[in-house]
Formats: sequence, structure tokens, C-alpha cells
Amino acid sequence: MKKVVLSGVAPTGTLTIGNYLGALKNWKEMQKDYDCLFMIVDMHAITVRQDPSSLYNRCISFATQYLACGIDPQESTIFIQSSVSAHSELAWILSCFTHLGELNRMTQFKSKAKRYSSNINAGLYTYPVLMAADILLYQTDIVPIGEDQKQHLELTRDIAQRFNNLYGEVFKLPEPYISQMGARIMSLLDPTRKMDKSDSNPNNYIALLDEPDVVRKKIRHAVTDSGSEIRVDERKPGISNLLTIYSCLSEQPVSKLEERFAEKGYASFKEELAELIIQTLKPIQKEYRRLMDNRDYVIDLLQEGAKKARTRAERTLREVKKRIGFLYLTQDQQ
Ligand code: AMP
Ligand code: TRP
Repeated sequence: MKKVVLSGVAPTGTLTIGNYLGALKNWKEMQKDYDCLFMIVDMHAITVRQDPSSLYNRCISFATQYLACGIDPQESTIFIQSSVSAHSELAWILSCFTHLGELNRMTQFKSKAKRYSSNINAGLYTYPVLMAADILLYQTDIVPIGEDQKQHLELTRDIAQRFNNLYGEVFKLPEPYISQMGARIMSLLDPTRKMDKSDSNPNNYIALLDEPDVVRKKIRHAVTDSGSEIRVDERKPGISNLLTIYSCLSEQPVSKLEERFAEKGYASFKEELAELIIQTLKPIQKEYRRLMDNRDYVIDLLQEGAKKARTRAERTLREVKKRIGFLYLTQDQQ
């Protein structure tokens, strides 16, 4: 039996090379060795106000970008979170096993409450409980996430353990997986901040769907540091970030790149980096366009994915309901 891997991205903003290097590229590599489920978490997305037609289109576009990046629907289960109602059902149950004190400690809630101060809704607050439901429904072993989600995973484990202590071993305790390569790609204009797909200034990120000329322009304008040496140094966050991107995309160690660019200036390094990004994105964009011309095929795949996910999720949900004493009736018996 392969171990279960589950992860998801919220359909907000624009998928970036940060998402590619920190998530999609690793997912692609994991799918051969693991039983993988990859979601588009639209229910998490609505904790921030979304325009309905943009949300709808972005879900299809993100799913298509997953596929174009090499997530294989024969190997992995790709689905939209809201298509599997067990997520909301389990989230409610788990919310009754989560303390306010635990949610109060979540740093993402605090930062999002600041960022979206005009709409601090209950969903934003209980967001980590829904994430726990996402994970626990599938008896997940490993959850690939970014550093910023570690706290949510620890909470997931605490909730699972609390439930298991009360009702017996229902949930598997998941482990986080934070890949070192590409774990943190930084913003192009402010390399002390993470490259964020919801950044209001697109010059801070390279989108997976950026045209070559746009990539060249953004890299040319990326902040570098004083001095002219091309090496990783914590006092040089700009050039360090660009070297990290180069290293992840080319799968060459940074030390080799430092040697290679020792005699070169920032301008020619940036030029080469832009070309490397363009070449990496080219086949992804080509496949994206091909699939977007066959939207019905993508929607069919998402239907299939949801069907597979539903069957698996239902198994856990049924067990949970039984253990807490709910009268479990299947649809046919109602
Ligand atoms: P987010 O874009 O914050 O919704 O994150 C979705 C996934 O992409 C998570 O698994 C993150 O770890 C990954 N990710 C997002 N931004 C970056 C980044 N700047 N560097 C590395 N990984 C990232
Ligand atoms: N909260 C995650 C993020 O912001 C997205 C997410 C939702 C997720 N449910 C998940 C990630 C389950 C991994 C597993 O990046």
C-alpha cells in the first residue's frame, strides 16, 4: 500500500514560479511513489470575498495548470474541494473538538485579519479546522506544505489526537513535508517577503502563464543588491533569491552557479535566468493552452476526481459519525 499524500492550493491570485518550485514540481515527483490527492481549495478561498465568475474560471484554470505541470490524472486524484461535501461536514464536527485558544494562536489568521480588516468573518477564523478536515478525511500520511502552514498541520494533529483519545483510532496522524528545494521563493521587488500569488503588484512574481517578454522585463527589474558579486549571502537577499530560483530550475547546486557566474555581472546573469525561466514555462504554457481549448475534458477529469475522492472521504466520515453516536442513514434509507 502506497502512503497517502494530500495537498491543495486556494484558487486566488495567479500561480507563480513560487507555487511551481514550492509545490507543483514536488507533487509531480511524488506521484509515482505515493497515492496522491491534489485539491483546489475553493472553500478556503471564499474566506476572502471572491467574484463568482473569476472564482469559477480560476478553479478551471488552476486545475489545468496542475495538469500542464505534469500532475497525471491517471496517477493522482485531482479535485475541487467543494465538490466533496464531506469536507464541510467533517469540518463542523471537528470544530466542536477545537478550542478557541488554539485558533487564537494561529498566525495566519492574525495576518489575514489585518490584511482583510473589513471582512474578518468566522470562516477566516475556522479556516484551519476545514484544513484539518481536508487532511484527516483521506487518512493522509504526508502533507506537502510551505513553512507558513506548519502551524495548521500541528493543529490538525492535535485535533486528530484529541478525537482518537475520545473515540478510538479513527484518524491517521499526518506528517508535514517541507521540501528544502524551493521551500521559499521570495518576491522580486522585496526579497525579504515571500513571493505571493495574491500580491497586488504582479512585478513581484513570475506567473506560470507570463509571456516571455513579461518574464524578461520582470527579471530585469528584480531588485539586486549593492556590489556586483553573484553569490548567496544573507546580506544580499535579492541576488540570493535569483540564484535560488536558478538553482531550483536548473537542478544545479548554488555553489556551481556561483563559480559559473563569478566573472559575470548582474545583467548577464539576469538575462540567462530569464531565458531559463522562459524555457521551463514554455512546455507548460503550450500544454495549458491545449487543455484550455478542451475545457470539457478538464471538467470531466474533475468530475472523475471528485467521484474518487467522495468514495474515500465518505468512508472516514461514516466512521466518525458512527463513533460520535450520530444515527447514520445512507441516502437510500432516508
Ligand atoms: P499559497 O500560494 O500560499 O496558497 O501556497 C500554495 C502552495 O505553494 C504551498 O504549498 C506553498 O508552499 C507553495 N508556495 C507558495 N508560494 C511559495 C513561495 N514563494 N515559495 C515556495 N513555495 C511557495
Ligand atoms: N491552507 C493551505 C494554504 O494556504 C491550503 C490548504 C487547504 C491545504 N487545505 C489543505 C494544504 C490541505 C494542504 C492540505 O496553502
